[in-house]
Amino acid sequence: MITANNQTQFRPQLHFTPKDQWMNDPNGMVFYEGEYHLFYQYHPESTVWGPMHWGHAVSHDLVHWEHLPIALAPDEHGTIFSGSVVVDKHDTSGFFGGKSGLVAVFTHHDTIPGTDLTRQRQSLAYSMNRGRTWTKYANNPVLIEEDLPDFRDPKVFWYNPQQSWVMVIAAGDEVRFYKSVNLKDWTYSGEFGLGQGSHDGIWECPDLFELPVDGDMNNKRWVLIVSIGDDANFPEGSRTQYFIGSFNGNTFVPEESPAPLLWLDHGRDNYAGVTWSDVPEQQGRRLFIGWMNNWKYANVIPTSEWRGAMTLPRELTLTAEMEGVRLRQKPIRELQAQRRSEENWAAFELENSEITVAQGDLLEIIAEFEFDNTLEFGLKLRTSETEETIVGYSTHEQLLFIDRSRSGAADFHADFACKHSALLEAETGNVKMRIFVDRSSIEVFVNDGKLVMTDQIFPLSSSAGIKLYTKEGSVKVKSLTIYTLNSIFD
Ligand code: FRU
Repeated sequence: MITANNQTQFRPQLHFTPKDQWMNDPNGMVFYEGEYHLFYQYHPESTVWGPMHWGHAVSHDLVHWEHLPIALAPDEHGTIFSGSVVVDKHDTSGFFGGKSGLVAVFTHHDTIPGTDLTRQRQSLAYSMNRGRTWTKYANNPVLIEEDLPDFRDPKVFWYNPQQSWVMVIAAGDEVRFYKSVNLKDWTYSGEFGLGQGSHDGIWECPDLFELPVDGDMNNKRWVLIVSIGDDANFPEGSRTQYFIGSFNGNTFVPEESPAPLLWLDHGRDNYAGVTWSDVPEQQGRRLFIGWMNNWKYANVIPTSEWRGAMTLPRELTLTAEMEGVRLRQKPIRELQAQRRSEENWAAFELENSEITVAQGDLLEIIAEFEFDNTLEFGLKLRTSETEETIVGYSTHEQLLFIDRSRSGAADFHADFACKHSALLEAETGNVKMRIFVDRSSIEVFVNDGKLVMTDQIFPLSSSAGIKLYTKEGSVKVKSLTIYTLNSIFD
């Protein structure tokens, strides 16, 4: 439904946002009885971070969301940090009188009585009515590690070979693993992280799941996703890394050690993302969503009434690349239903120039380029006399980049206006970009999701030009398709 509030300048028309107030991490995503649930870190009284609650929404297609009342609110054990929800099919917890139900496993955050030292302990809540109301477990918290001040964001899944639940949880700048048969009693089984991956910030919001490589069910790998927090020394701010390996029932073992440093998204605004639990096996999909923001400036981005959006939901797959097994991401297929009109261009050559190909702030663009002698080419999005956001490829450096230094409002934080890039080897001279443009973001999926960049931008509504460009030399535009999209509020 269109209201004044969801038509403000920066309100995403394709991405999930709370109706109002502050939102950060996606939490407790689970599929249950035909509904996708999305909970999220929510501060109902302010547009900046504060005492955390779990906001809640449900969807049948992951695109259109129905907002529901707050699911979990602070209590005598503290505020409600991130966590997960599982379907307890066989009532292992005993909460459901032999039936099935939903169990939330989350972090309670408070201070040690009589001190101002913070502590984080893991707790449970359960729902017998499809997530509509929640009861906190009477014996919370269920998992305490007194020596760990940063111990949070439990992600739980059922591990069939051992007929037990497994929890992966952030502990300082590592992750730990715990096991349980009833979700209430947990025993430590292992840890991972020392000397592995990036430690440029604290580790948060882990996720662990298994996927086939190139669709081959006899050749699977485990993927460990770990978000790393903002640190003033790194302009990138908070970002997300992943590891490929195996799970031996106790801990994660990387395929190579030390594991190569792999970023899930090379943009600045995809953080704390995890995947949906209990998506039906026949769907065969691993569905991911992230918080489209960055702790570096999240509290000061120039939106009013609400602050914080989610990325588009994405399907994750594994592919055997030359350099090893790697994640690919593609926007979920349900988004195709938002396409309103389509324009196609026949192949053409673009030489040392730029041309306007569309106008709009809600578009999907698919462009296939073949380059030979050009220095740089790509697209300029949300352009006007004064503004532009460039998605380009620098052929001599083999770098795919986003330049948002002239993208619009940026004075809210010194690190926002920037150009950042990622290595993309394109020996064959082919680069395919699929780009989603929304009111205050762009998401770029390159070469079938092999490389992804997600960035927020805050342009004027009137900055709507979409251009193709090339610098010094020519590029062949093999195909270009531009869809205008319907708003999810239509
Ligand atoms: C990640 C995070 C989590 C924590 C939550 C608090 O963005 O810091 O580690 O549970 O946000 O809102």
